[in-house]
Amino acid sequence: MKRLWELMKKQWRGYAIAISALLTAIIIDMYNPYFVGQIVDRVIMNGEMPYLKTALLALAAITIGRAILGYTKEYGFDVTSSKVIVNLRKKLFDQIQKLSFSFFDENNTGELMSRIKEDTENIMSAICYGIMLFLEQCIYFIIATVILFLINWKLTLICLVTMPLIEYVVFKLERKIGKTYEKISDQRAVLNTTAQQNIAGVRLVKAFGREKHEIQKFLQQNEENYKINYEQARTMAKYNPPIEFLSNVVLVLVISFGGYFVIGGDMSLGTLVAFSNYIFMLIWPMRMMGWLTNVLAQCLASIKKIEKIFNEEPLIKNCENPKEPEDIRGHVVFRNVGFEFGGTPVLKDINIDAGPGSTVAIMGITGAGKSSLINLIARYYDCTAGNVYFDGIDVRDMELSLLRNNVSAVMQDTFLFSDTIEENIRFGVVGITEEEFLAASRDAQVEEFVSQMPDGYSTVIGERGIGLSGGQKQRISIARALIRKSKVLIMDDSTSALDMGTEYAIQKAMDRRKGITRFIIAHRVSAVKNADEILYFENGEIVERGTHDELLGIRGRYYDTYCEQYRDYVAALEKEVV
Ligand code: GTP
Ligand code: MG
Repeated sequence: MKRLWELMKKQWRGYAIAISALLTAIIIDMYNPYFVGQIVDRVIMNGEMPYLKTALLALAAITIGRAILGYTKEYGFDVTSSKVIVNLRKKLFDQIQKLSFSFFDENNTGELMSRIKEDTENIMSAICYGIMLFLEQCIYFIIATVILFLINWKLTLICLVTMPLIEYVVFKLERKIGKTYEKISDQRAVLNTTAQQNIAGVRLVKAFGREKHEIQKFLQQNEENYKINYEQARTMAKYNPPIEFLSNVVLVLVISFGGYFVIGGDMSLGTLVAFSNYIFMLIWPMRMMGWLTNVLAQCLASIKKIEKIFNEEPLIKNCENPKEPEDIRGHVVFRNVGFEFGGTPVLKDINIDAGPGSTVAIMGITGAGKSSLINLIARYYDCTAGNVYFDGIDVRDMELSLLRNNVSAVMQDTFLFSDTIEENIRFGVVGITEEEFLAASRDAQVEEFVSQMPDGYSTVIGERGIGLSGGQKQRISIARALIRKSKVLIMDDSTSALDMGTEYAIQKAMDRRKGITRFIIAHRVSAVKNADEILYFENGEIVERGTHDELLGIRGRYYDTYCEQYRDYVAALEKEVV
């Protein structure tokens, strides 16, 4: 709330202009019934024809003035509130970007999307139309009440008696509508998620021949959506006639009692006409209050949800005086490292010493903790026991962006943006020369397939562009990591979709890039056998370690994997020996 208020305060000029226009429009609007009343009294009743021209000119001026001021008011509120929301959304997005990996494990994308979109839109409605109409209607109500009392206090009191009734029905309606609105909003989210997941996973749906089932699922939710909307329409239909009726009762009261006063000579006919016009300035605010409180309630609920994100502290951040070593070598050490996910141990007592320029390979069955291990190097997560050192400094004491800039990771799940291949590789890194860009692309074997594309590196990929094979995507992610020229390179199962030849070519290119410490997670012996040390993981522990030859020598799990993958070759060898 405070944050929103600060953002609104920054735009005070815009609000000041809009509110001034609003006030002026109301003031001149107040003269409208007055001149109508005067026309009745002086022109129609007394035949003062020359006055008609003055009154009509005044009414025309009021209309034009109202149109101009109305435009200024709406434009002012709209533009100013949009600026507030743009800034709020920017702050929210900045905050989300700051949060740690663990936050995204707990909050799904759909929810965060609705915070950025729907909740900010709810706030926009409140600070734009909400404030504008609330101010406008309150002022109309107050001024009109004063004028009505001044014109005829008895008639005003008679009319005011019906107001609580109108208000009662209005609030009852809004409470019901508010409830169905919540249901509609939830249902819309479900419908969106179903549609979005289906469209994103359309290939899977088709491949499994599940179209009918998915259509059925969607139709069911569409039907739900229809039902809730129908319910809302029914509520509106039920409550609107009584509100209309009560509003008209007020008019009937004005005309009946007012007529009586006119006949009795206590009031002129013109004044009665003016009175009945002013009375609408009283009824409208009453009718709108329900809607306005709903808008406000929704806005408050959205603020609360957004505040929760703003109050979220990034778990991983810089320490008080982070160290910023100038000479980075890329020496990574794990000392008695343990790691837990929500109390479940994932890594136990890990000790690794990866000297600058060395290659550590990690193998092990799925779920053994391989990705969890490499996630600790650049502090995607912090270890829960022991220490991880980078060039002799505990990673928690090192300046975070410096650390992350010196560790490049090719993640297990390839993610490419719907953009050109070049932008996907450069990924916003500045100061990269064309030669460096081409060298990274060549080393990652991207050049090989891009050179055959008519648009080359400018080819747009992803949703709006062409599709790529799994291996091609992996190669782009490798190039993205290489271009950063970091001292530490992590490759998490990132050559799994490549053929042996391409994998070998990439390995050779990597070997030429001296002085880079490499962590390679792979399932294929071919990808790890040249490493300085191979670690075999099981249940979060290193159960075997050594070079390729040493591990073959102990005939353990690595040896079994080797035999599995080279069965024919081993059999042939053994035959030869016999
Ligand atoms: P593969 O990539 O399949 O070869 O496995 P891995 O060796 O990389 O396993 P990883 O390190 O990803 O996971 C190790 C263990 O941590 C598994 O038992 C997972 O269930 C668990 N784990 C991974 N990510 C999370 C998470 O976000 N939350 C929780 N609670 N557990 C997780
Ligand atoms: Mg993994």
